[in-house]
Amino acid sequence: MSTFWSWWIIAMTVITTVGVCWVLFANRKVVLKEKPKDGEVPKTGHVYDGIEEYENPLPGWWFNMFVATVVFSIIYLVLYPGLGNFPGVLGWTSEGQWQQQEQKAEDRFEAVYATFEGQSIEELALNPKAFKIGRRLFGNNCAVCHGSDGGGSYGFPNLTDADWLYGGTPKDIEVSITHGRRGAMPSWTSVIGEDGISQVTEYLFKIGGDEHDAALASTGETVFSTYCTSCHGVDGKGIQAFGAPNLIDDVWLYGRSPEMIKTSIRRGRKGIMPAQIEQLHESKIRLLTSYVYSMSQR
Ligand code: HEC
Ligand code: HEC
Repeated sequence: MSTFWSWWIIAMTVITTVGVCWVLFANRKVVLKEKPKDGEVPKTGHVYDGIEEYENPLPGWWFNMFVATVVFSIIYLVLYPGLGNFPGVLGWTSEGQWQQQEQKAEDRFEAVYATFEGQSIEELALNPKAFKIGRRLFGNNCAVCHGSDGGGSYGFPNLTDADWLYGGTPKDIEVSITHGRRGAMPSWTSVIGEDGISQVTEYLFKIGGDEHDAALASTGETVFSTYCTSCHGVDGKGIQAFGAPNLIDDVWLYGRSPEMIKTSIRRGRKGIMPAQIEQLHESKIRLLTSYVYSMSQR
Protein backbone atom coordinates (compact mmCIF):
# COMPACT_ATOMS: atom_id res chain seq x y z
CA MET A 1 0.00 0.00 0.00
CA SER A 2 1.21 3.49 -0.78
CA THR A 3 2.45 5.50 2.19
CA PHE A 4 1.19 8.75 0.66
CA TRP A 5 -1.81 9.18 2.94
CA SER A 6 0.22 8.28 5.98
CA TRP A 7 2.73 11.03 5.18
CA TRP A 8 -0.12 13.37 4.26
CA ILE A 9 -1.64 12.97 7.72
CA ILE A 10 1.76 13.29 9.40
CA ALA A 11 2.46 16.51 7.44
CA MET A 12 -0.97 17.95 8.24
CA THR A 13 -0.66 17.14 11.92
CA VAL A 14 2.85 18.57 12.22
CA ILE A 15 2.03 21.71 10.18
CA THR A 16 -1.08 22.33 12.30
CA THR A 17 0.83 21.86 15.55
CA VAL A 18 3.66 24.15 14.47
CA GLY A 19 1.09 26.65 13.15
CA VAL A 20 -0.76 26.69 16.45
CA CYS A 21 2.52 27.30 18.31
CA TRP A 22 3.41 30.11 15.96
CA VAL A 23 0.05 31.86 16.45
CA LEU A 24 0.40 31.42 20.18
CA PHE A 25 3.92 32.84 20.48
CA ALA A 26 3.53 35.52 17.82
CA ASN A 27 0.71 37.08 19.86
CA ARG A 28 2.51 36.70 23.16
CA LYS A 29 4.18 40.11 23.09
CA VAL A 30 2.40 43.29 22.21
CA VAL A 31 4.28 45.61 19.87
CA LEU A 32 2.76 49.06 20.11
CA LYS A 33 3.15 51.75 17.46
CA GLU A 34 2.89 54.49 20.06
CA LYS A 35 3.96 54.23 23.61
CA PRO A 36 0.95 54.77 25.87
CA LYS A 37 1.17 57.64 28.26
CA ASP A 38 1.75 56.81 31.90
CA GLY A 39 -1.28 55.26 33.60
CA GLU A 40 -2.96 54.55 30.29
CA VAL A 41 -3.92 51.09 29.08
CA PRO A 42 -2.35 50.22 25.73
CA LYS A 43 -4.91 50.27 22.88
CA THR A 44 -4.94 48.90 19.36
CA GLY A 45 -6.35 52.12 17.97
CA HIS A 46 -9.54 50.29 16.82
CA VAL A 47 -12.65 52.26 17.75
CA TYR A 48 -16.21 50.99 17.25
CA ASP A 49 -19.01 53.39 18.11
CA GLY A 50 -16.77 54.99 20.65
CA ILE A 51 -15.68 51.69 22.20
CA GLU A 52 -11.91 51.24 22.08
CA GLU A 53 -10.08 47.92 21.84
CA TYR A 54 -7.41 47.29 24.47
CA GLU A 55 -4.18 45.70 23.38
CA ASN A 56 -3.75 43.06 26.09
CA PRO A 57 -1.78 39.84 25.68
CA LEU A 58 -3.41 36.56 26.74
CA PRO A 59 -3.42 36.12 30.52
CA GLY A 60 -0.52 33.94 31.64
CA TRP A 61 -2.63 31.03 32.91
CA TRP A 62 -4.52 30.94 29.61
CA PHE A 63 -1.33 30.99 27.60
CA ASN A 64 0.12 28.19 29.74
CA MET A 65 -2.99 26.11 29.24
CA PHE A 66 -2.56 26.38 25.48
CA VAL A 67 1.08 25.34 25.80
CA ALA A 68 0.01 22.40 27.98
CA THR A 69 -2.43 21.16 25.30
CA VAL A 70 0.30 21.30 22.68
CA VAL A 71 2.71 19.41 24.93
CA PHE A 72 -0.03 16.89 25.67
CA SER A 73 -0.72 16.33 21.98
CA ILE A 74 2.97 15.77 21.26
CA ILE A 75 3.30 13.24 24.09
CA TYR A 76 0.09 11.56 22.95
CA LEU A 77 1.28 11.30 19.35
CA VAL A 78 4.53 9.70 20.50
CA LEU A 79 2.79 7.13 22.74
CA TYR A 80 -0.38 6.33 20.78
CA PRO A 81 -1.30 5.86 17.12
CA GLY A 82 -2.18 9.18 15.50
CA LEU A 83 0.66 10.16 13.21
CA GLY A 84 -0.23 8.35 9.98
CA ASN A 85 0.88 4.73 10.11
CA PHE A 86 3.14 5.28 13.12
CA PRO A 87 1.71 2.92 15.77
CA GLY A 88 3.01 4.83 18.79
CA VAL A 89 5.71 3.52 21.12
CA LEU A 90 3.19 1.83 23.47
CA GLY A 91 1.88 -0.39 20.65
CA TRP A 92 -1.71 0.24 21.78
CA THR A 93 -4.53 -0.85 19.43
CA SER A 94 -8.27 -0.65 19.94
CA GLU A 95 -8.51 -4.31 18.93
CA GLY A 96 -5.87 -5.28 21.48
CA GLN A 97 -7.77 -3.45 24.21
CA TRP A 98 -11.02 -5.11 23.15
CA GLN A 99 -9.37 -8.55 23.22
CA GLN A 100 -7.96 -7.86 26.66
CA GLN A 101 -11.40 -6.93 27.96
CA GLU A 102 -12.93 -9.98 26.28
CA GLN A 103 -10.31 -12.19 27.87
CA LYS A 104 -11.00 -10.67 31.28
CA ALA A 105 -14.73 -11.27 30.87
CA GLU A 106 -14.10 -14.82 29.63
CA ASP A 107 -11.91 -15.59 32.62
CA ARG A 108 -14.55 -14.26 34.99
CA PHE A 109 -17.31 -16.26 33.30
CA GLU A 110 -15.23 -19.42 33.11
CA ALA A 111 -14.84 -19.24 36.88
CA VAL A 112 -18.62 -18.99 37.26
CA TYR A 113 -19.22 -21.79 34.74
CA ALA A 114 -16.71 -24.01 36.49
CA THR A 115 -19.07 -24.14 39.48
CA PHE A 116 -21.67 -25.80 37.22
CA GLU A 117 -19.35 -28.47 35.92
CA GLY A 118 -20.14 -32.01 36.95
CA GLN A 119 -23.85 -31.23 37.14
CA SER A 120 -26.15 -32.92 34.65
CA ILE A 121 -28.40 -30.89 32.36
CA GLU A 122 -31.39 -32.06 34.43
CA GLU A 123 -29.75 -30.81 37.62
CA LEU A 124 -28.78 -27.51 36.02
CA ALA A 125 -32.37 -27.05 34.86
CA LEU A 126 -33.39 -26.90 38.53
CA ASN A 127 -30.54 -24.60 39.57
CA PRO A 128 -31.85 -21.00 39.85
CA LYS A 129 -28.40 -19.46 39.28
CA ALA A 130 -27.84 -21.48 36.11
CA PHE A 131 -31.37 -20.59 35.01
CA LYS A 132 -30.66 -16.88 35.40
CA ILE A 133 -27.47 -17.02 33.35
CA GLY A 134 -29.17 -19.25 30.78
CA ARG A 135 -31.99 -16.77 30.41
CA ARG A 136 -29.54 -13.93 29.80
CA LEU A 137 -27.58 -15.98 27.25
CA PHE A 138 -30.84 -16.88 25.54
CA GLY A 139 -31.89 -13.24 25.37
CA ASN A 140 -28.58 -12.25 23.80
CA ASN A 141 -28.14 -15.10 21.36
CA CYS A 142 -31.41 -16.82 20.60
CA ALA A 143 -34.31 -14.44 21.20
CA VAL A 144 -33.94 -12.73 17.79
CA CYS A 145 -35.20 -15.91 16.17
CA HIS A 146 -37.01 -17.91 18.85
CA GLY A 147 -38.61 -14.97 20.68
CA SER A 148 -37.62 -13.65 24.11
CA ASP A 149 -39.93 -16.20 25.77
CA GLY A 150 -38.73 -19.01 23.46
CA GLY A 151 -42.23 -19.20 22.02
CA GLY A 152 -41.03 -19.09 18.41
CA SER A 153 -42.84 -17.65 15.43
CA TYR A 154 -43.38 -18.35 11.76
CA GLY A 155 -40.46 -20.56 10.64
CA PHE A 156 -38.83 -20.51 14.08
CA PRO A 157 -39.86 -23.35 16.34
CA ASN A 158 -41.39 -22.93 19.78
CA LEU A 159 -38.85 -24.24 22.29
CA THR A 160 -41.17 -24.25 25.29
CA ASP A 161 -43.62 -26.97 24.22
CA ALA A 162 -43.32 -30.72 24.06
CA ASP A 163 -43.20 -30.74 20.27
CA TRP A 164 -39.71 -31.21 18.84
CA LEU A 165 -38.41 -31.36 15.30
CA TYR A 166 -35.16 -32.95 16.41
CA GLY A 167 -35.97 -34.30 19.85
CA GLY A 168 -36.32 -32.79 23.29
CA THR A 169 -33.91 -34.81 25.40
CA PRO A 170 -30.99 -32.84 26.89
CA LYS A 171 -28.67 -34.56 24.42
CA ASP A 172 -30.87 -33.71 21.39
CA ILE A 173 -31.17 -30.08 22.45
CA GLU A 174 -27.45 -29.82 23.04
CA VAL A 175 -26.72 -31.20 19.56
CA SER A 176 -29.26 -28.80 17.99
CA ILE A 177 -27.53 -25.83 19.62
CA THR A 178 -23.95 -26.96 19.19
CA HIS A 179 -24.00 -28.04 15.56
CA GLY A 180 -27.14 -26.32 14.29
CA ARG A 181 -29.85 -27.95 12.20
CA ARG A 182 -30.97 -27.77 8.61
CA GLY A 183 -34.52 -28.59 7.67
CA ALA A 184 -34.65 -30.13 4.20
CA MET A 185 -38.16 -30.31 2.85
CA PRO A 186 -37.91 -30.59 -0.95
CA SER A 187 -40.15 -28.73 -3.38
CA TRP A 188 -42.77 -31.05 -4.86
CA THR A 189 -44.24 -28.93 -7.67
CA SER A 190 -42.39 -30.68 -10.47
CA VAL A 191 -43.03 -34.13 -8.99
CA ILE A 192 -46.74 -34.18 -8.11
CA GLY A 193 -48.03 -30.97 -9.74
CA GLU A 194 -50.73 -28.60 -8.44
CA ASP A 195 -53.34 -31.39 -8.46
CA GLY A 196 -51.14 -33.67 -6.39
CA ILE A 197 -50.48 -30.79 -3.96
CA SER A 198 -54.23 -30.16 -3.48
CA GLN A 199 -54.92 -33.88 -3.02
CA VAL A 200 -52.18 -34.52 -0.48
CA THR A 201 -53.17 -31.36 1.43
CA GLU A 202 -56.73 -32.70 1.78
CA TYR A 203 -55.27 -36.00 2.92
CA LEU A 204 -53.26 -34.18 5.62
CA PHE A 205 -56.49 -32.56 6.83
CA LYS A 206 -58.10 -35.97 6.88
CA ILE A 207 -55.43 -37.67 9.01
CA GLY A 208 -55.27 -34.56 11.21
CA GLY A 209 -58.97 -35.01 11.93
CA ASP A 210 -60.05 -31.80 10.16
CA GLU A 211 -62.72 -31.02 7.60
CA HIS A 212 -61.63 -32.23 4.17
CA ASP A 213 -62.75 -33.16 0.67
CA ALA A 214 -63.11 -36.95 0.80
CA ALA A 215 -62.54 -37.58 -2.93
CA LEU A 216 -59.36 -35.48 -3.11
CA ALA A 217 -58.10 -36.96 0.16
CA SER A 218 -58.39 -40.53 -1.07
CA THR A 219 -56.17 -39.79 -4.12
CA GLY A 220 -53.96 -37.79 -1.76
CA GLU A 221 -53.36 -40.90 0.31
CA THR A 222 -51.54 -42.53 -2.62
CA VAL A 223 -49.45 -39.41 -3.16
CA PHE A 224 -48.58 -39.34 0.54
CA SER A 225 -47.58 -42.98 0.78
CA THR A 226 -45.51 -42.69 -2.40
CA TYR A 227 -43.58 -39.50 -1.68
CA CYS A 228 -43.93 -38.37 1.91
CA THR A 229 -43.76 -41.34 4.27
CA SER A 230 -40.00 -41.80 3.91
CA CYS A 231 -39.52 -38.62 5.96
CA HIS A 232 -42.82 -37.89 7.67
CA GLY A 233 -43.51 -41.50 8.61
CA VAL A 234 -46.26 -43.89 7.53
CA ASP A 235 -48.64 -42.34 10.07
CA GLY A 236 -47.57 -38.75 9.25
CA LYS A 237 -46.24 -38.24 12.78
CA GLY A 238 -42.82 -37.22 11.55
CA ILE A 239 -39.34 -38.66 12.01
CA GLN A 240 -37.02 -36.72 14.27
CA ALA A 241 -33.86 -38.13 12.70
CA PHE A 242 -34.74 -36.15 9.53
CA GLY A 243 -36.21 -33.18 11.37
CA ALA A 244 -39.43 -33.95 9.49
CA PRO A 245 -42.31 -32.61 11.56
CA ASN A 246 -45.45 -34.31 12.71
CA LEU A 247 -48.14 -33.37 10.18
CA ILE A 248 -51.18 -34.54 12.12
CA ASP A 249 -50.86 -32.44 15.27
CA ASP A 250 -51.79 -28.83 15.96
CA VAL A 251 -48.24 -27.48 15.71
CA TRP A 252 -47.37 -25.96 12.36
CA LEU A 253 -44.04 -24.28 11.85
CA TYR A 254 -45.16 -22.60 8.64
CA GLY A 255 -48.86 -22.15 9.24
CA ARG A 256 -51.82 -24.51 9.06
CA SER A 257 -54.11 -22.75 6.59
CA PRO A 258 -54.62 -24.71 3.34
CA GLU A 259 -52.68 -22.03 1.46
CA MET A 260 -49.71 -22.17 3.87
CA ILE A 261 -49.55 -25.94 3.80
CA LYS A 262 -49.71 -25.92 0.01
CA THR A 263 -46.91 -23.36 -0.09
CA SER A 264 -44.79 -25.63 2.12
CA ILE A 265 -45.32 -28.52 -0.29
CA ARG A 266 -45.05 -26.41 -3.45
CA ARG A 267 -41.81 -24.62 -2.64
CA GLY A 268 -40.26 -26.82 0.03
CA ARG A 269 -38.96 -25.46 3.36
CA LYS A 270 -35.42 -25.00 4.55
CA GLY A 271 -35.29 -23.76 8.11
CA ILE A 272 -31.75 -23.16 9.31
CA MET A 273 -30.66 -23.26 12.92
CA PRO A 274 -27.12 -21.80 12.95
CA ALA A 275 -24.44 -23.79 14.77
CA GLN A 276 -23.34 -22.06 17.98
CA ILE A 277 -20.12 -23.86 18.83
CA GLU A 278 -17.99 -21.13 17.18
CA GLN A 279 -19.56 -18.21 19.07
CA LEU A 280 -20.40 -19.85 22.38
CA HIS A 281 -18.19 -22.02 24.48
CA GLU A 282 -19.26 -25.50 25.45
CA SER A 283 -19.93 -24.23 28.97
CA LYS A 284 -22.36 -21.60 27.69
CA ILE A 285 -24.08 -24.14 25.46
CA ARG A 286 -24.59 -26.40 28.47
CA LEU A 287 -26.33 -23.60 30.34
CA LEU A 288 -28.45 -22.78 27.28
CA THR A 289 -29.35 -26.44 26.94
CA SER A 290 -30.47 -26.60 30.55
CA TYR A 291 -32.42 -23.37 30.11
CA VAL A 292 -34.25 -24.59 26.99
CA TYR A 293 -34.83 -27.96 28.63
CA SER A 294 -36.30 -26.34 31.73
CA MET A 295 -38.59 -24.12 29.63
CA SER A 296 -39.96 -27.18 27.85
CA GLN A 297 -40.49 -29.06 31.11
CA ARG A 298 -42.75 -26.44 32.64
C1 HEC B 1 -31.01 -17.16 12.88
C2 HEC B 1 -32.12 -17.65 13.63
C3 HEC B 1 -31.82 -18.56 14.81
C4 HEC B 1 -31.03 -18.31 15.91
C5 HEC B 1 -30.20 -17.09 16.22
C6 HEC B 1 -31.18 -19.44 16.77
N1 HEC B 1 -32.00 -20.36 16.20
FE1 HEC B 1 -32.53 -22.14 17.01
N2 HEC B 1 -33.51 -22.63 15.31
C7 HEC B 1 -33.74 -21.78 14.25
C8 HEC B 1 -34.52 -22.46 13.22
C9 HEC B 1 -35.00 -21.86 11.91
C10 HEC B 1 -34.75 -23.75 13.72
C11 HEC B 1 -35.53 -24.87 13.01
C12 HEC B 1 -34.68 -25.53 11.99
C13 HEC B 1 -35.52 -26.34 11.07
O1 HEC B 1 -36.54 -25.81 10.60
O2 HEC B 1 -35.13 -27.46 10.78
C14 HEC B 1 -34.12 -23.82 15.03
C15 HEC B 1 -34.12 -24.95 15.84
C16 HEC B 1 -33.67 -24.97 17.14
C17 HEC B 1 -33.78 -26.10 18.04
C18 HEC B 1 -34.41 -27.43 17.70
C19 HEC B 1 -35.89 -27.33 17.94
C20 HEC B 1 -36.62 -28.61 17.72
O3 HEC B 1 -37.86 -28.53 17.61
O4 HEC B 1 -36.02 -29.68 17.67
C21 HEC B 1 -33.26 -25.72 19.25
C22 HEC B 1 -33.15 -26.54 20.51
C23 HEC B 1 -32.79 -24.36 19.09
N3 HEC B 1 -33.06 -23.93 17.81
C24 HEC B 1 -32.20 -23.62 20.09
C25 HEC B 1 -31.58 -22.40 19.88
C26 HEC B 1 -30.80 -21.72 20.87
C27 HEC B 1 -30.58 -22.18 22.29
C28 HEC B 1 -30.33 -20.60 20.27
C29 HEC B 1 -29.39 -19.55 20.86
C30 HEC B 1 -28.07 -20.00 21.16
C31 HEC B 1 -30.83 -20.56 18.91
N4 HEC B 1 -31.59 -21.67 18.72
C32 HEC B 1 -30.56 -19.55 18.00
C33 HEC B 1 -33.28 -20.48 14.12
C34 HEC B 1 -32.41 -19.86 15.01
C1 HEC C 1 -36.59 -35.64 2.41
C2 HEC C 1 -37.51 -35.68 3.51
C3 HEC C 1 -38.91 -35.13 3.25
C4 HEC C 1 -39.85 -35.57 2.36
C5 HEC C 1 -39.69 -36.71 1.35
C6 HEC C 1 -41.02 -34.78 2.57
N1 HEC C 1 -40.80 -33.87 3.55
FE1 HEC C 1 -42.14 -32.47 4.24
N2 HEC C 1 -40.71 -31.75 5.49
C7 HEC C 1 -39.47 -32.27 5.64
C8 HEC C 1 -38.76 -31.49 6.60
C9 HEC C 1 -37.34 -31.72 7.05
C10 HEC C 1 -39.63 -30.43 6.99
C11 HEC C 1 -39.31 -29.31 7.96
C12 HEC C 1 -38.64 -28.19 7.19
C13 HEC C 1 -38.05 -27.15 8.08
O1 HEC C 1 -37.89 -27.42 9.28
O2 HEC C 1 -37.76 -26.05 7.59
C14 HEC C 1 -40.86 -30.64 6.27
C15 HEC C 1 -41.97 -29.83 6.38
C16 HEC C 1 -43.18 -30.07 5.78
C17 HEC C 1 -44.36 -29.27 5.95
C18 HEC C 1 -44.48 -28.03 6.83
C19 HEC C 1 -44.83 -28.46 8.24
C20 HEC C 1 -45.05 -27.33 9.19
O3 HEC C 1 -44.96 -27.60 10.39
O4 HEC C 1 -45.34 -26.20 8.78
C21 HEC C 1 -45.36 -29.85 5.23
C22 HEC C 1 -46.77 -29.39 5.10
C23 HEC C 1 -44.76 -31.01 4.59
N3 HEC C 1 -43.46 -31.11 4.95
C24 HEC C 1 -45.45 -31.86 3.75
C25 HEC C 1 -44.85 -32.85 3.00
C26 HEC C 1 -45.52 -33.62 1.99
C27 HEC C 1 -46.99 -33.49 1.65
C28 HEC C 1 -44.60 -34.45 1.46
C29 HEC C 1 -44.80 -35.43 0.32
C30 HEC C 1 -45.25 -34.85 -0.92
C31 HEC C 1 -43.36 -34.22 2.14
N4 HEC C 1 -43.54 -33.25 3.06
C32 HEC C 1 -42.19 -34.93 1.87
C33 HEC C 1 -38.93 -33.37 5.02
C34 HEC C 1 -39.53 -34.06 4.00
